[in-house]
Amino acid sequence: MEEELKTLVTDLQKELSSCTKEADVLNVKSKYVGKKSRIMEIMASLKDMNVDDKRKYGSLINNTKKDLERIANEYLENLGNTLDVNFDDTLDYDVKMGSLHPVTIVAKEVTDCLKKMGFTIVAGPEMDSEFYNFEALNIPKDHPARDMQDTYYLDNEMLLRTHTSGVQVKAMEKYGAPLRICVPGRVFRNEDLDASHENTFFQLEGMVIDKNISIENLVGVMQELLREVFHTDVKVRLRPGFFPFTEPSYELDCSCLICGGKGCPTCKNSGWIELVPGGMVHPNVLRAGGIDPEVYNGFAFGLGLTRLAMMKYKIKDIRVFNAGDIRYLENFKID
Ligand code: DAH
Repeated sequence: MEEELKTLVTDLQKELSSCTKEADVLNVKSKYVGKKSRIMEIMASLKDMNVDDKRKYGSLINNTKKDLERIANEYLENLGNTLDVNFDDTLDYDVKMGSLHPVTIVAKEVTDCLKKMGFTIVAGPEMDSEFYNFEALNIPKDHPARDMQDTYYLDNEMLLRTHTSGVQVKAMEKYGAPLRICVPGRVFRNEDLDASHENTFFQLEGMVIDKNISIENLVGVMQELLREVFHTDVKVRLRPGFFPFTEPSYELDCSCLICGGKGCPTCKNSGWIELVPGGMVHPNVLRAGGIDPEVYNGFAFGLGLTRLAMMKYKIKDIRVFNAGDIRYLENFKID
């Protein structure tokens, strides 16, 4: 008798452990403690037992019945905590798949490619100080470059960063040289909005600091990156440019992907599209980051992620990115 009662308890536990639905637990419970269960049969047989057996087994049988009930109820309760027992999985829901934002897709492609080339992804604050956003980058208070990057100045003497370049000096201070980082992130400008101007958009900063770096390294990285993003070989060229935090500075153009370089309205018939500004990190910027320009040098670039997404997906109006129109995102569904 004792053996059988013990087996009932272990059998119940075994059967419950494979239940994942409330209905299954209830079935098992009724099998073990319901009207037609074995324990009920045993209880009914009590009355036919002699006085000795009644005394011997009475409370054992009763306690076993209580145990069986308790175990089944506890299991039911735990299941209720982990499953939404009100969820009716027989209803036919119209499940809609979401999609990633086009800028997120492009950012992932770019950072995945840079990671393969040994870059570490670093984040920086969207609210930053004038020092990191401008001064440390060789842009003093009265420098005309500040006009082109007007932004939102906050009451706490901070500002909304105008570019991801502010992370350059922060990263040098934190990690020292050699350094290979990329910084995707949201940036802000006080702009009048139109099809090609937004007050909020995305950039990706890249920076390599090491010994004997040359601009050829920058071109190599860019070529590899664009091949990955556009899934085809893209020609690039450099033109001289100016940025206070690089010397020399360049504008890197790529062959127009719309016309293949033949000339079209998008590239203003030149066959080239201005894509990535960059250059060799200015010695003053290295110094601001605590790195000796006599020992180390490096390159930096500022990729316009929003711009890249516009090119990749042939999006003509920058404002759609922040409009939050879900119908628009339907176009970027991933199968
Ligand atoms: N921060 C610049 C901008 O937003 C872009 C840029 C230019 C970044 C040159 C760089 C660089 O790292 O070397 O206009």
